[in-house]
Amino acid sequence: MSPRVSMVVNGRGVEADVEPRRLLADFLREDVHLYGTHLGCEHGVCGACTVLVDGEPVRSCLMLAVQADGGEVTTVEGLSRDGGLHPLQEAFHEHHALQCGFCTPGFLLTSLYLLRERPDLDDEGEIRAALSGNLCRCTGYQNIVDAVRDAAARMRQDSPTTKG
Ligand code: FES
Ligand code: FES
Repeated sequence: MSPRVSMVVNGRGVEADVEPRRLLADFLREDVHLYGTHLGCEHGVCGACTVLVDGEPVRSCLMLAVQADGGEVTTVEGLSRDGGLHPLQEAFHEHHALQCGFCTPGFLLTSLYLLRERPDLDDEGEIRAALSGNLCRCTGYQNIVDAVRDAAARMRQDSPTTKG
């Protein structure tokens, strides 16, 4: 019998019977029908499948759905605020930090974690290093780095004393 898993995804409780070997990425896409989490390499290299589990970035192609049982998951669909774009999404849009967009959900989630941990982040080299686990085949990275830097400034403005 398949184990039953339950978790909170983007603030909504979800529950399903899953094969013990079902990947979290497949669970999110095929059972929860959230297709924003992309699968690129499927072996932990590209970062396209990055989501937050209990606030920490994970490769959802390397994590089993049963391992997230009882946890809180954030996917790219959970970023928007009151139907509007998150400052990171606005900055990616304005800085042309995406072309095909395949890598973008992973970059956004990694960046969200990064800016929550380091709201003061401004140094380009540090941003590049922090995002080095996410691969983009289109942009050459500069616009992504510019967007994250700009989003950090926007988020500091939004909540000057708290983590964004
Ligand atoms: S699809 Fe998970 S790291 Fe590439
Ligand atoms: S925008 Fe195409 S892979 Fe990054």
